[in-house]
Amino acid sequence: LSEENQSILSAHEWLQKLYHHLLRFTKDGKEGYQYLIDRGIKQETIDLFQLGFAPNVKDFTAEFLEKKGFHQQVLVKAGLLSLRDDDTVADRFRGRVIFPIRNHLGKTVAFGGRAIAGQEPKYLNSPESDLFQKGKLLYNFDQAKKHIRSSGEAILLEGYMDVIAAFQAGVKNVIATLGTSLTENQAKLLRRYVDTVVVCYDSDNAGTEAAYKAANLLRQVGCKVKVARMEDGMDPDDYIKAYGANAFTDKVIKASDTYMSFYMRYMKKDYNLNLEGDRINYLEIVLKQLAVIDNAVEREYYVKELSREYGLTMDTLNQEILKIRQNMG
Ligand code: UTP
Ligand code: MN
Ligand code: MN
Ligand code: MN
Ligand code: MN
Repeated sequence: LSEENQSILSAHEWLQKLYHHLLRFTKDGKEGYQYLIDRGIKQETIDLFQLGFAPNVKDFTAEFLEKKGFHQQVLVKAGLLSLRDDDTVADRFRGRVIFPIRNHLGKTVAFGGRAIAGQEPKYLNSPESDLFQKGKLLYNFDQAKKHIRSSGEAILLEGYMDVIAAFQAGVKNVIATLGTSLTENQAKLLRRYVDTVVVCYDSDNAGTEAAYKAANLLRQVGCKVKVARMEDGMDPDDYIKAYGANAFTDKVIKASDTYMSFYMRYMKKDYNLNLEGDRINYLEIVLKQLAVIDNAVEREYYVKELSREYGLTMDTLNQEILKIRQNMG
């Protein structure tokens, strides 16, 4: 590690402690603390994730770290301070609840800050650096790793709050991408630890699109993929709050769809199934997807479902699948 990167790590360590202390024990951090409590986060969870608060002061962080002897230039590079037009510096995180982002070794390499008074953006994250590359890191991986290993399954969520709510509820094999789509690098990392990944993104259009992409990527690297489903508009944090941890485990995670079921439902959005032509085109792409399933029992299961739903004989569907399989070689 270069001297500069060492200094950046050390600055993060100091700041994490400072922000956490402010949130837990001071008047300045009270609104951040209250915000989390109001969202159902318990004190022990706040401590476990070392959540903090950055006060709404222009140069609070700057002054603190300068007194500790850190070089301004380094702090700007790390994204903890921003350089303004007049060459003065200002704190990056102001009036935000702070989520330390740790790498897989447990070292804090970045922060995410959530607005609590409607500022934009809702979440402000540290910029990318040598030490922090969003596409290579999974939020909470350091804590989830052993639970992922022992359960043989990883649950992929969208956000910080989803991970924290699930972890607090006892579902501990949870990780998240940081507001970006899953990368091949992250998929491969997961593959090293598990066979099965349950994708449980927000139940909105963006979440469903992202789930489709993530699921395909995970399959490409050899994971078995399942896709969970919740009522429209909900995310795991909302769901756990509304229905509790057991419902989340039993009705969402354990009840998650196979990739094929997800695919069949997801693809319907591109077709008007009341139209004969669309129906045929839809069936064609579904059969193509079915044809790559090697397990005949599994194939048969969906063939039966399609046969029922579209009034075609299983024979016809199986013949078509066979043709596709032969063409695949
Ligand atoms: P969501 O918009 O789903 O937020 O973004 P959320 O996690 O449900 O947040 P709450 O419940 O309103 O607090 C999912 C994730 O995308 C990233 C964050 O990592 C967030 O957790 N994100 C979102 C950003 O980085 N910036 C944003 O402005 C919004
Ligand atoms: Mn503490
Ligand atoms: Mn979302
Ligand atoms: Mn969400
Ligand atoms: Mn949410």
